Amino acid sequence: MKTNVINTPNMNKAKVRTNEATFFMSGATQNNEEISKLLNNKNYYIHTYGCQANVRDEETMRGLLENVGMTQTDSPETSDVIIINTCAVRENAEDKVYGEIGNLKRLRKINKDLVLAICGCMVEQPEILERMMNTFPEVNLYFGTHEIYQLTSLICETITSKERLVSIESKQGEVIEDLPCRRNNEFKAYINIMYGCNKFCTYCIVPYTRGKERSRRFNDVMKEVDELVALGYQEITFLGQNVNAYGKDLDEGHDFADVLEEAAKRGVPRIRFTTSHPWDFSLKMIDVIAKYPNIMKFIHLPVQSGNSEILKLMGRRYTREDYLNLVKTMRERIPGLSLSTDIIVGFPNETEEQFNDTLSLVDIVGYEAAFTFIYSPRRGTPAARMKDEVPYSEKSRRFKELVKHLEVSISKDALSMVGKIYDVLVDGVSKTDENMYSGYTENNKLVHFKASKEDIGKIIPVRILESHTYSLIGEKVNG
Ligand code: SAH
Ligand code: SF4
Ligand code: F3S
Repeated sequence: MKTNVINTPNMNKAKVRTNEATFFMSGATQNNEEISKLLNNKNYYIHTYGCQANVRDEETMRGLLENVGMTQTDSPETSDVIIINTCAVRENAEDKVYGEIGNLKRLRKINKDLVLAICGCMVEQPEILERMMNTFPEVNLYFGTHEIYQLTSLICETITSKERLVSIESKQGEVIEDLPCRRNNEFKAYINIMYGCNKFCTYCIVPYTRGKERSRRFNDVMKEVDELVALGYQEITFLGQNVNAYGKDLDEGHDFADVLEEAAKRGVPRIRFTTSHPWDFSLKMIDVIAKYPNIMKFIHLPVQSGNSEILKLMGRRYTREDYLNLVKTMRERIPGLSLSTDIIVGFPNETEEQFNDTLSLVDIVGYEAAFTFIYSPRRGTPAARMKDEVPYSEKSRRFKELVKHLEVSISKDALSMVGKIYDVLVDGVSKTDENMYSGYTENNKLVHFKASKEDIGKIIPVRILESHTYSLIGEKVNG
């Protein structure tokens, strides 16, 4: 198959950061007869890996495809277009994708006209793209995180040219406001308030795959908030790799605390946000979170390591002491606050002592939830160039020890909830037991309980009866 290369990724271009204007109208929703004629009534299947940024991108892709008359299916076998939306943050995320493409490639033999597309963060890396193109001739479309708005025309081009198409441009990226969105959930929604990342933590690939930190205009964010409130949405999560940097690139005079406060006033029942970097978490934000009952008292505050030397090597811009002081201030000013975190174990040459600092920090903070990872070198990042003397078996041992420490505080916190009543937003039938329903408390604890279909999408009081480390059992409180 011939390959038509429009653009390929480039790590040097991906790191450039300038202040050029970033607003852009795509025209993606304008009626294009040729595209609609070709894609109308076709089926698509989409599988998304990775973080909420990718999930929200999936919703945009669904909007674009359904706009031209396509229908989503949950079976790749009956789909005309298959899209795998990938994540590159760690090697195991990538391995899953290779496994899935390996499984899907047989469908090319059954359906010669199939569009098998790979997008998302993995293809933003030149070596990975090259490896995929060599290993999987069955894949006939690659597009990057900055090309999503062109999705329908890229699919059409792939179908009509019968060539393999590659369109991935490494760039700082724009803010595009005229894209459609088909949400995955009818009562919980994500709102992007900004895209990209400028922090360049030395281990992380995200700034290279997502472009520069760029904020949406305040009014555009609030317009989306209003639309969701009018539709009866119960929960909004504001998204960005660093939500507390919101507005710094605009001259509108609004910061993230303003976004939270204005949304709280507009009556969203539950407001959440992710991710907030400890470095620019302002007192103003803390006070707004404390002031409004509809801003959840749950903050995801990734620490990554409890040792200041490692934090410096990671480029995190705060010390252990800075982090602990911030937590202290938060706990003083926000009663009932729950904290969760991300931790990386086995950063290059991390010593046993440095790791012990992470354990002690975990014990001091007493997290209610945590995501833990073994460091995974990402090609092109500064940390991947460091020589690392720590064997993987040792990293793996530290990882298990860390999880044990975390489970102590997580279980203690869960146990303290037993006997009390909490508001739970009911998600639906429990994934583990079809006789039970499940949902999350304000402090993001998963609860299973008996309820009825009518409760789905509502916030109801639930008494906690039993606690496990990662979930709770409760009963609905009537009246
Ligand atoms: N913007 C967010 C994080 C996005 S990535 C923040 O700064 O908090 C989510 C998490 O993946 C990170 O917090 C980090 O803990 C983990 N992570 C990122 N790169 C990693 C790597 N190379 N190896 C292991 N874990 C990594
Ligand atoms: Fe990655 Fe750091 Fe940016 Fe988070 S802040 S996305 S960890 S570079
Ligand atoms: Fe993964 Fe890209 Fe998100 S690398 S974590 S999907 S920004």
